[in-house]
Amino acid sequence: MYELIYVSRAVVDLTGGELETLIGPSRDLNAHADITGMLLYVHDEPAHEGFFVQLLEGPQESVERTYERIRHDALHTDVTLVQRGATGARSFGGWRMRLATTTTDAVLPLVVGDDVKRMTSKDTFTLLKDTFVSRALLTAETVRAG
Ligand SMILES: Cc1cc2nc3c(=O)[nH]c(=O)nc-3n(C[C@H](O)[C@H](O)[C@H](O)COP(=O)(O)O)c2cc1C
Repeated sequence: MYELIYVSRAVVDLTGGELETLIGPSRDLNAHADITGMLLYVHDEPAHEGFFVQLLEGPQESVERTYERIRHDALHTDVTLVQRGATGARSFGGWRMRLATTTTDAVLPLVVGDDVKRMTSKDTFTLLKDTFVSRALLTAETVRAG
């Protein structure tokens, strides 16, 4: 089993309906490619911006091929690889792509000490690129399943 996590910036701030439209056809493709995973949309309210954190898991070749397609999708920019490699078991088995949304407020408790005070909305993307932060968000219970 192989997994890959990336983060990116949405070119426009998306609504829940738009996210569903985006992920609908992807679920069929993922079923075909034996891919499961989670797509988290991090909504930055003050900045009217949105960020994606996505985990893809499955056979290595399928995961890499799918990531290559996603990477070139014009719906997002600054696609940044956070982690890739072998893993023991699926974390989202049964989810052909779980969709969840959260806000930057959920990211703040993951930031320690003085960094909280210094944090501004433009730092959100920098934070999400941190392996610990992105992984914690993907597994957090605070996110709403969609
Ligand atoms: C944030 C985001 C997440 C996506 N997730 C997936 C996914 O999990 N699986 C997938 O096949 N395509 C996903 N896509 C869509 C792909 O970028 C691409 O449009 C789709 O695979 C169809 O590829 P094609 O137009 O080359 O046929 C995602 C796109 C975006 C912007």
